[in-house]
Amino acid sequence: MKNKLYYGDNLVILGQLEDNSIDLVYLDPPFNSNKNYNLLFTNETGRVSDAQRHAFDDTWEWGLESEKTWVNIVETYDPNIVNLLAALRQHLGSSSVMAYLVMMTPRLKELHRVLKPTGSIFLHCDPTSSHYLKLLMDCIFSPSNFRNEIIWCYRQGGRGSKHFARKHDTIFFYSKSNNWTFEVNSIRIPYHGTGGYQTSGRGIRSKNGRTYHPHPEGKIPEDWWDIPAIPPMSKERIGYPTQKPLELLERIIQACSMDGQVVLDPFSGCGTAIVASEKLNRRWIGIDITHLAITLVRTRLEQYFGPRLHEFDILGAPVDLEGAISLANQDRYQFQWWALGLIGARPFEEKRKGPDGGVDGYIYFNYELRSSHIGKIIVQVKSGKVSVTTIRELASVRRSQKAEIGILLTLEPPTSNMLKEAACEGMFTCLLDGNRYPIIQIITIEQAINGQSVLYPKIYV
Ligand SMILES: C[S@@+](CC[C@H](N)C(=O)[O-])C[C@H]1O[C@@H](n2cnc3c(N)ncnc32)[C@H](O)[C@@H]1O
Repeated sequence: MKNKLYYGDNLVILGQLEDNSIDLVYLDPPFNSNKNYNLLFTNETGRVSDAQRHAFDDTWEWGLESEKTWVNIVETYDPNIVNLLAALRQHLGSSSVMAYLVMMTPRLKELHRVLKPTGSIFLHCDPTSSHYLKLLMDCIFSPSNFRNEIIWCYRQGGRGSKHFARKHDTIFFYSKSNNWTFEVNSIRIPYHGTGGYQTSGRGIRSKNGRTYHPHPEGKIPEDWWDIPAIPPMSKERIGYPTQKPLELLERIIQACSMDGQVVLDPFSGCGTAIVASEKLNRRWIGIDITHLAITLVRTRLEQYFGPRLHEFDILGAPVDLEGAISLANQDRYQFQWWALGLIGARPFEEKRKGPDGGVDGYIYFNYELRSSHIGKIIVQVKSGKVSVTTIRELASVRRSQKAEIGILLTLEPPTSNMLKEAACEGMFTCLLDGNRYPIIQIITIEQAINGQSVLYPKIYV
């Protein structure tokens, strides 16, 4: 199986996955992030889908979609689930948290179906909804398969002055049966910091006189994890608002899966679980409902692993010019994010257009051995009319941004005057490989779909 990155609503895509086919699920659904990213998405019919509208929004509302899902749950689901949700609805009414639980129910059920009997699931949430979600998880996975409530503690971020600082997330760990993978020796951590134990050859003496011999490779971590959130200036930070640290995902994946097994993240975001899976030689399936996330995952993988990256398929995104035109007509921001992914460029901002000086995406590259000197390529994406003025403007933005190369990625083919104007900007010479590259490059969407890439020094130092 090739690794797979799906664009689309995870409920629909999960429906296409086989029963008992996944070894490990990690999910980090959006809720109560206290941010509204103000994105507006339309589906292939041009309608805004509820799932997409809510993708980045903490303001879940009870709407037609919730009502439809509710009726389906009542009519077709196991009585245990129906009774639980009915009791919750009596208490919560048609509130936002109820809408959220109704959205989560069919997804958790599907995740249970696709998990192998030896598989596990890690559900990442926060204290605003964790108590309700645990009831739902108990109902779907059974209380006897509850393994841990992991408390991920961190220090970063703001603090309110009227209560204790809210500095933890909750991660529920359930297995599908009583026979699950737990690779205890791959996640051991040092003993220090656990009460001054001495780990010398003579072992630890307890008050009652018994001697314990510490494991030479360290202890099994507790169910609270002190892992720093990603600091603002860290190299790991992609700019995706809900990005989780790699260290967190690596621990989960190392603990509950083995080499070559399949990890599924149905709410991939910028792909932390996917990068951790790739790094640990697991196979993976990622799903996200925005082209922004899909493009970020794609470029993150390419930049992180370079030529070592295993091949993967992107499914659900346009594959031909017709699909691209249709996407551009539905939503030009989704189109823009998708198009940037074709050439390995990273979207400039995760939100809609800001004061970006006409830059839609970036590619960074090494062109000197001094790692402090990073080359920059700016990308403009156009889904409408283009002309010689477009090239002049791009050339001027490139200069003001001090970028080595400027790319025009255009749906409409360039005129011969545009090609001439671009050629007049000349060539840039890379100090590391000695090659010359056009300073302004024009790539049509059709060419990009057919695999044409940006010409720049691809040197991994
Ligand atoms: C909290 S973020 C995940 C962040 C991720 N753990 C990371 O480290 O980047 C949640 C993601 O779920 C996606 N999403 C929301 N609803 C979805 C749905 N119905 N199907 C697929 N993806 C969805 C959003 O677009 C967002 O990228």
